[in-house]
Amino acid sequence: MILEDKKAGIIRSLRDAGEKAVSGEELGKTIGTSRTMVWKYVKMLQDEGYVIESSPGTGYVLRSIPDKLYAEIIRIGLDTDVIGHEIHYFDEVDSTNNVAKEMGHNAPEGTIVISEIQTSGRGRKGHQWVSPYGGIWLSIILKPTISPRHASRMTLVAGIAVVNAMKKLGVTASLKWPNDVLVKGKKICGILTEMDAEPEHIDFVVVGIGINANINPDAMNEELRKTSTSLSIELGKRIDRADFVQSILYELEQEYTKLSTQSFSFILEEWMSKSDTIGRRVRVITPQKTIEGNVTGITADGALVLEKGDGTSEEIIAGQCIYL
Ligand code: BTN
Repeated sequence: MILEDKKAGIIRSLRDAGEKAVSGEELGKTIGTSRTMVWKYVKMLQDEGYVIESSPGTGYVLRSIPDKLYAEIIRIGLDTDVIGHEIHYFDEVDSTNNVAKEMGHNAPEGTIVISEIQTSGRGRKGHQWVSPYGGIWLSIILKPTISPRHASRMTLVAGIAVVNAMKKLGVTASLKWPNDVLVKGKKICGILTEMDAEPEHIDFVVVGIGINANINPDAMNEELRKTSTSLSIELGKRIDRADFVQSILYELEQEYTKLSTQSFSFILEEWMSKSDTIGRRVRVITPQKTIEGNVTGITADGALVLEKGDGTSEEIIAGQCIYL
């Protein structure tokens, strides 16, 4: 059992016991270690911000868990087979996607990198992604056996997972092509998928998910306030970020599994049913040109299908989409 699992085991036991004290001996039996080692783990947890009371003769009582995305907190109650089984936690990094890309080749599939703060969070097209404390800045390393041509499917799958997880929280979100998650027309989450691939083979994909979770309007600049929202703004209360990360990882695993077990047309249908881009009149800006038209769907490669006024239609693989 690795250190994180031992710590997770102690927290789980104490949490399940509620107000009742659990002895060091009992905790030791649960995680397979001695009372002295339990005491050492408890000390580590206290240093990380867990409030654990100990009284000689009775044992330990957990009073509170810190509002952090520590690996052991995410691990408790994580209901996945692959995603999130290796978790790399940081207080601060430049970008979780950068860290994940460095690890990609050697890390097992499903490894996640998560940080409280990103100092150089990246959005699409080199845009800055503002990443203060309170958000969820997460990258997942996946090794799908799909063609690099279909890599954008990973973004679609991640978008579906985020919308599903938000629904469980009571927030109705929709997908805007290619990679935005919106609530009432404002951006709440962005997804940045990057890959390392040979012409015919994907070595690994990093799916970067940025969620404005417990971000207050005063942490946003004026521009962001107009165009963005957060889960705490929408719900009027702070969310349990660790619970929500577990939920996203669970939903992502469900959708990711479908990539290899179902026809992609089902996933496309699911994406379209959650999207508010279909049926809209849009302007799409690509490096080559700007086109306007009505969106009739997306293709199996994730391209947007635009019906132009002259009766012809065009597929756009990437670009900035503006609703008209
Ligand atoms: C976008 O909408 O432009 C995509 C934003 C993606 C942000 C996430 S936060 C976690 C990961 N690390 C990054 O630097 N970017 C992604």
